[in-house]
Amino acid sequence: MTFLFNSDPRRGAIFADAFARELPDVPFTMDAAAIDTDAVRYLISWAVPDNLDRYRNLEILFSIGAGVDQFHLDAVPVNVKIVRMVEEGIVRMMQEYVMLAVLALHRNLPGYLAQQRAGEWADIAQPQAGSRRVGVLGLGQLGQAVLDRLKPFGFQLAGWSRSPRQIAGVTCHHGELGLDEMLAVSDILVCLLPLTGETRGLLDAGLFTKLPEGAALVHTGRGPQLDHEALLAALDSGHLSAAMVDVTDPEPLPSGHPFWLHPKVILTPHVASVTQPVTAAQAVVENIRRYRAGLDPIGLVDRSRGY
Ligand code: NAP
Ligand code: GLV
Repeated sequence: MTFLFNSDPRRGAIFADAFARELPDVPFTMDAAAIDTDAVRYLISWAVPDNLDRYRNLEILFSIGAGVDQFHLDAVPVNVKIVRMVEEGIVRMMQEYVMLAVLALHRNLPGYLAQQRAGEWADIAQPQAGSRRVGVLGLGQLGQAVLDRLKPFGFQLAGWSRSPRQIAGVTCHHGELGLDEMLAVSDILVCLLPLTGETRGLLDAGLFTKLPEGAALVHTGRGPQLDHEALLAALDSGHLSAAMVDVTDPEPLPSGHPFWLHPKVILTPHVASVTQPVTAAQAVVENIRRYRAGLDPIGLVDRSRGY
């Protein structure tokens, strides 16, 4: 009943310690070449390894990250459970990043950076937080956590999900109609959606026109959700004021791409949030315990929804 770790060895060493301490009856290995493939019941990876079918007795494929789109779910045999990463470290880092981004956009940082480069000392009109409306696409572990962190600033908060949700202090919307309602009142729009057939290309020209004049975007979902040309057109026309973009398609972004130097774009290289090995190892250990007790692992992917 081996656990195979297929990711970076630094994180693997921390997982190995946790398994030795907490699940000593589950052999842990990072050496895919030296194992009995039939013994592998659990596998953790970022992408699906080549020849996944050689692990004939695989029961759970864990994602080392929160997203699972990189697995291409159809490539995983239907009897294998797929589990995304739900752990406090990844949540905390995403909260930090989205606070950084929303505050930067709220306080006109892209505009002040442009003024600094131009040697210009001037005020930009500053709305108070209470009149700034922040909408979050995706109300899962990350969307809810960032909304929670945004509350003390006093922004008007809204969120959008597939199914109806109720969150204290947040106006919740769902479905197609709900999306339009939320976009119309989102001065800062944050994308924290998983990449699925329904969310691919969602951040396009049509969506941007539904945002209020001067709105800004924070994109921390997945690259293929964003139409780069449409964002550039919306920024250049002035309909959107700025964007903070962490994920692109492709990654890395090629040199010469307009995002690199665009004065209204702040770009980071897919670093908004990174799985933290100590807390992630604990989450995986707990999930194996749950599974062995006949419970569903936390973060079990519903293949029909794609997340
Ligand atoms: P999650 O817990 O699965 O939550 C996903 C949320 O998106 C749910 O609220 C879900 O609605 C909503 N959703 C999915 N499809 C939708 C649709 N078609 N229409 C409306 N709402 C939809 O996921 P998570 O853990 O919060 O992570 C979200 C994503 O963040 C990941 O999949 C990954 O792409 C991204 N991420 C990025 C980074 C980074 O560093 N940039 C790091 C980690 C994660 P329901 O509530 O109705 O199910
Ligand atoms: C990172 O993007 C993740 O999905 O954890």
